[in-house]
Amino acid sequence: MTRPLLWLNGELMDLADGRIPIEDRGYQFADGLYEVIRFENGRPLMLREHLERWKASAEELLIDMPGTLDSREALVRELVDRSGFSFATVYGQLTRGVAPRNHVFPSASTPPTEIWIVKPWKPWAEELYETGVSLFSQPDERWTRCNIKSISLLPNVLAKEKAKRAGGFEALLYREDGTVTECSAANAYCVCGGVVRTHPLSNRILPGIARMMILDVARQIGVPVQEEAATLDEFRAADEVFISSTTMDLMPVTQIDGQDIGTGEVGPVSQRLLAAARDRVAELTGTAEAVRDYA
Ligand code: PDD
Repeated sequence: MTRPLLWLNGELMDLADGRIPIEDRGYQFADGLYEVIRFENGRPLMLREHLERWKASAEELLIDMPGTLDSREALVRELVDRSGFSFATVYGQLTRGVAPRNHVFPSASTPPTEIWIVKPWKPWAEELYETGVSLFSQPDERWTRCNIKSISLLPNVLAKEKAKRAGGFEALLYREDGTVTECSAANAYCVCGGVVRTHPLSNRILPGIARMMILDVARQIGVPVQEEAATLDEFRAADEVFISSTTMDLMPVTQIDGQDIGTGEVGPVSQRLLAAARDRVAELTGTAEAVRDYA
């Protein structure tokens, strides 16, 4: 089979055949959580870490996670095998289930709705990594529990759309005190004097799995990292800026709000980290030989 595949509460089907009742709490309250996992060469990238975040989001939202981490790991791997896509994304979503609309939780016997979707995935165009992308700043209008990977994404959606309409690739979100948190669907970093700075883990950002990988490879190749928030002004004045997510690894940023960052070209720290991140991906998925020079 090489069609997008859906697993819905234990049943396997074509994605187009999936049906969810109108009174699913995901549909009516955005009462649920999700994950996006990448497979290359039929092999997952940091699958366990994604599932641990899935479990943590479920705990924060007081939704009983069906199954165990081991059973979900086996399930996700099996679904990708069955899909026939060796380069795939897996979208998982868990909601509080189906019940008559009422803000109060339904009875404890209400089963959650769990879905896993496998779709083919293509890497972003290499040109973007060569020229860098542009960000547009937007006020961060989200709630204060952004560490949860909640499906309630309206502020993210609006910010990204505004950035896109301005001709940008992503929205760079900042809080009222001027502090940059992250992007609508990626973590954000600036580089000053060779030091990478990014918002510390807190309720203000999503603990990105790519962020975990980037910070780890930075330590491995000796790039200093400070997990300290920076302001929008500091981002604008930085030598380099980049963002990260599961589907991008590291994406260099060369403009914010139409102004060049540094020289306006992809900087050396971003290049080294991107190369190191790609080597890490190659190690984890066996897609290519690790043959890069970090000098
Ligand atoms: N978004 N921050 C936010 C707000 C995100 O939505 C995401 C991911 C990230 C990066 O997380 P990770 O490195 O684990 O992909 C940071 C996914 C991909 C999405 O919404 O489609």
